[in-house]
Amino acid sequence: MSVIRTVVAGVGSYLPSRVVTNEDLSKVVDTTDEWIVERTGIHSRHIAADGELTSHLALAAARNAIADAGIDAQEIDTIILATTTPDNTFPATAVTVQAELGLYHGAAFDIQAVCSGFVYAMTIADTFIRTGQSKTVLVIGAETFSRLLDWTDRTTCVLFGDGAGAAIVKGEQGAGTNADRGILTAHLHSDGRYKDKLYVDGGPSSTQSTGHVRMEGREVFRHAVVNIAEAISESLAATGLTADDIDWFVPHQANKRILDGTAKRIGLPPEKVVMTVGEHGNTSAASVPLALDTAIKDGRIKSGDLVLLEAMGGGFTWGSLLLRF
Ligand code: ACO
Repeated sequence: MSVIRTVVAGVGSYLPSRVVTNEDLSKVVDTTDEWIVERTGIHSRHIAADGELTSHLALAAARNAIADAGIDAQEIDTIILATTTPDNTFPATAVTVQAELGLYHGAAFDIQAVCSGFVYAMTIADTFIRTGQSKTVLVIGAETFSRLLDWTDRTTCVLFGDGAGAAIVKGEQGAGTNADRGILTAHLHSDGRYKDKLYVDGGPSSTQSTGHVRMEGREVFRHAVVNIAEAISESLAATGLTADDIDWFVPHQANKRILDGTAKRIGLPPEKVVMTVGEHGNTSAASVPLALDTAIKDGRIKSGDLVLLEAMGGGFTWGSLLLRF
């Protein structure tokens, strides 16, 4: 049966040049390199310069993805940008990227699912492409998450970083089997009962200010491993594939211990897990495309490989997506 598949045609990423190490942070808050590495696996993170905005990071990643796909930017008819840290409350940061790329057609909008943003955005792109709404979509995850941090709170400020990743996805005919290139299945979830476990204590409607990240770390950790493993099982059940079929696991880069726990729970060996959290920290919606770009550019992920993406974040939101690269 012939079907339309959403195929990844190119990827790109961008990291701000300033690197902040755990040692640097130990001069700002009461923490140590040893504590951060042992509890999170994070050694350093990139932090945007003053005046460097989410749209700047997004645009750089987008340009790299467009070059990687070898397309004319004018082919893009939809831009979906996942972010929790837009340049402004409105308009959407996606329209700034659209204007900078010289695109005056199609649609551009932001989505907000915190750390799950890129998996959500890819799922929306897939739906748009399969229903004929879009042909070529630029999907971006971009964050200047450092701007939401309380730099006096050691329980949160050591965890996050800034960055952006992007993918160009296009419709292609497939045979309707698991051998097709492209997105094979995607599953999204949220449960607002947990919205106070990880949130920002401000916003335009409540405080007329941006606010700072607040988190019950242990609760987030506990739910993350369970929810992520369940969403992955859903993707495998929907396709009839098993953990053994997965070539690469590209998870949201929250914390090395969450990644190790999830991989163990679903029976994936550590060598199949793409891990960038050590050098990037948690870049929220940017973490999955940053990790994907890293593993494609260093030659690990090859054409035809089965890749599993997953994420979980504030809300809680979570999801998984299986694609053949
Ligand atoms: N440096 C030194 N000590 C610290 C630091 C720090 N940066 N942060 C907390 N501590 C202290 C605490 O104050 C506490 O001290 P106390 O025992 O004297 O009260 C002690 O360390 C233990 O604190 P816990 O919060 O119990 O430590 P835990 O082992 O749970 O680790 C962590 C904390 C790393 C946040 C963990 O809970 C975690 O990884 N949770 C998941 C959070 C996450 O990844 N969030 C990202 C967003 S959600 C997502 O992306 C999935």
